[in-house]
Amino acid sequence: MKIAFYDTKPYDKVWFDKIAGESGAEIKYFDFKLNAETARLSKDFDVVCIFVNDNADRQVLDILHENGVKLLALRCAGYNNVDFKTAYGKIHVVRVPDYSPAAVAEHAMALLLTLNRKTHRAYSRTRDNNFSINGFIGIDLAGKTAGVIGTGKIGRVFTGICKGFGMKVLAFDPYPAEGLDAEYTGLDELFAGSDIISLHCPLTPETRHIINRENLEKMKSHAIIINTSRGALIDTSALIDALKNYIIGGAGLDVYEEESEYFFEDLSDTIIKDDELSRLLTLPNVLLTSHQAFFTEEAMREIALITMENVKAFKEDKPLENEICYKCDGPCNKNEKSGRCF
Ligand code: NAI
Repeated sequence: MKIAFYDTKPYDKVWFDKIAGESGAEIKYFDFKLNAETARLSKDFDVVCIFVNDNADRQVLDILHENGVKLLALRCAGYNNVDFKTAYGKIHVVRVPDYSPAAVAEHAMALLLTLNRKTHRAYSRTRDNNFSINGFIGIDLAGKTAGVIGTGKIGRVFTGICKGFGMKVLAFDPYPAEGLDAEYTGLDELFAGSDIISLHCPLTPETRHIINRENLEKMKSHAIIINTSRGALIDTSALIDALKNYIIGGAGLDVYEEESEYFFEDLSDTIIKDDELSRLLTLPNVLLTSHQAFFTEEAMREIALITMENVKAFKEDKPLENEICYKCDGPCNKNEKSGRCF
């Protein structure tokens, strides 16, 4: 199998070289993202491997199909960047649905703890021999209420972490998890009753801008929003207005609506043209990380391992356990014999 690997970073190579080497697959690493222009380089490859900010829209998928690509292997869990209707019947799409829910849930808690107790600012101050603690006051998390939106794999781990801190958890999910130590409520009740709101649902047409102007108004004035899921769950301009006007207390963001041009890149010598991103970075009650919640050794190893298992199953005509198509949310007619979506 020849794999065209888009948006490569040095840490991808470390893990994929180690694991792909054992499988005999041949990987060509491209450091640029997949888009209509770069898709042309997929000729002679069987598999295209992409990450969260690569673009697999209709135009791109048509080019991949013309070039003979048969498998699109996502080395991530989220899949909002793929046009599944175009892919169906032409290119199989596989992903890594579960690599380390703990990695993401722990990062969500890290954002919350840092933002609440200002350890990021204390670090800079003390290194400058400034030992003042003015402005660093936080709140006890014990006894407070966390609102968890989406109680899938990551949301459930995050719920457990909050419980460990002595917090009460309100949860919202159209498919509640059985036996979860949380109280399921409606969204409005969750917004009104939570001191912390953490997003763990996927980005879909229904969840796009689930945090909007109207819902921000329903929150407590000290509420902290944590988003480790997908940027477009939040209407960024509404969030900035809410933060500027003290409608909510703060935001810890690992993802951003328009992140694809910026995140994962070293742009320290350039001017950021995105005014909303620049504005967020000026606010003292915002903590932004660059989509790094997944980034642990355990998660990277699992991502490489499962991606290569997906490729191997495809090569050997075996069932594709991690395949997804646009019918999977409803009654997907996954072929019983082949174990594939089409
Ligand atoms: P999952 O599929 O196990 O859970 C998602 C949950 O969201 C499900 O229980 C589902 O019923 C629920 N959901 C669906 N629609 C909803 C709605 N309208 N309102 C509330 N809940 C809804 O997914 P998992 O593994 O927990 O991942 C969650 C998200 O985390 C992914 O979709 C991805 O976007 C993001 N993610 C971010 C990473 C990062 O590095 N920042 C890494 C991995 C995932």
